[in-house]
Amino acid sequence: MSEGTQPLVGIVMGSKSDWGTMSHCRDMLEKFGITSDCRVLSAHRTPHQATEFASTAEERGIEVIVAAAGGAAHLAGVMAAHTVLPVLGVPMQAWSLDGLDSLLATVQMPRGIPVGTLAIGKAGAVNAALLSVSILAGKRPELREKLKAYRQEQTDQILSESLE
Ligand code: RP5
Repeated sequence: MSEGTQPLVGIVMGSKSDWGTMSHCRDMLEKFGITSDCRVLSAHRTPHQATEFASTAEERGIEVIVAAAGGAAHLAGVMAAHTVLPVLGVPMQAWSLDGLDSLLATVQMPRGIPVGTLAIGKAGAVNAALLSVSILAGKRPELREKLKAYRQEQTDQILSESLE
């Protein structure tokens, strides 16, 4: 059963160049029937629009925000500063330092304003979707069942693989 067309997750990213990675987050959410509102919004280059997105997310029915950025990756922190919705940060492997810069910029939030930070790149994008599903599943038993089925499929897949 689909969760419907109302977007429950907002996916924001600092640049269109992040979409190749963050589309995996959108795709994983779709597997669970969850619609996302995907936008390019930058903490530095579109600061007013970014804060507007975060501060109006709750009234628009969004329940989780996933924020991806690279380099001086402040987007997730800015989102978290303007909403009490859970914010999941995905550090992008941008133009240098293999994403370590993005990881540290996203994860090192000051006390009082949390960002749940995932792995760098595609793994983080996919896991941000799965963690969003876990959060949404708290009030939605059907989603919890879908998550259990997904885990079982993954287990079955691994156990069915042969090395030769
Ligand atoms: C960040 O800088 C973006 O999130 C992206 O990961 C990185 C590079 O952006 P572009 O120069 O490709 O626009 O703001």
